[in-house]
Amino acid sequence: MQSEIYCALDTSDIGQAENLAGQLSGQVDGLKIGMEYFYAHGANGYRKLANAQMPIFLDLKLHDIPNTVAQAVHALAQLEPRLLNVHGGGGAAMMRAAADAAAQASDSGLAPPTMLAVTVLTSLAEGDLHAMGIKGTPREQVLRLAALARANGMQGVVCSAHEIEALRTEMGDDFKLIVPGIRLAGSDAHDQKRVMTPEQAQSAGADILVIGRAITEADNMAAAAQAIKAGLAAQDGD
Ligand code: C5P
Repeated sequence: MQSEIYCALDTSDIGQAENLAGQLSGQVDGLKIGMEYFYAHGANGYRKLANAQMPIFLDLKLHDIPNTVAQAVHALAQLEPRLLNVHGGGGAAMMRAAADAAAQASDSGLAPPTMLAVTVLTSLAEGDLHAMGIKGTPREQVLRLAALARANGMQGVVCSAHEIEALRTEMGDDFKLIVPGIRLAGSDAHDQKRVMTPEQAQSAGADILVIGRAITEADNMAAAAQAIKAGLAAQDGD
């Protein structure tokens, strides 16, 4: 199966974000908007980017008590993002409340977002988990939280490229795996330490690749996106 590509618009500059969204419309499968943009420009800023008629992954990583997260999901569902996420560390009841709130969007005639859990931030190493009283390796914690997420209504997780295979094996084919940290062969890894090429991530079983700078820093963004898609299509056809 060919992986989709969502381009990360990592900017709080509204003009720049609109320019990126306009240039990438039709060239990638969706856009990812994160905290820096959403906190600066809110729902109105979101709607400006939604004008590009692209599916949007609203990457706000909600984490609070179940009632508060449910209300937040209800509010955000009015914007009809394709994907929305919460922290798996918020626990079973929080994820269930978020999933239920998302599903209720259809009662109001809205398309409910696909709900994702963030498992372990890739900025956390084993020592950081131990300092928080979490035993075992980050990978064990990722698998534990992914199972908890699925059992509580989450439809997928955001994961690092190196966790794709283990998650695919454990969670089966219907669980969505959304993967950042993608780099083109031979290119700058920037601040990403554990990277994979788009083709490697696709063959490991990623559903969606989140790609930022490999597209947004290209001289011709549309051409960069097309080249990545062509590589994925060629591999998928093998
Ligand atoms: O520019 P780059 O391709 O590294 O952008 C990747 C996007 O995915 C950024 O929005 C980044 O914040 C996000 N992300 C990540 N690593 C994670 C989780 C999210 O790079 N583990």
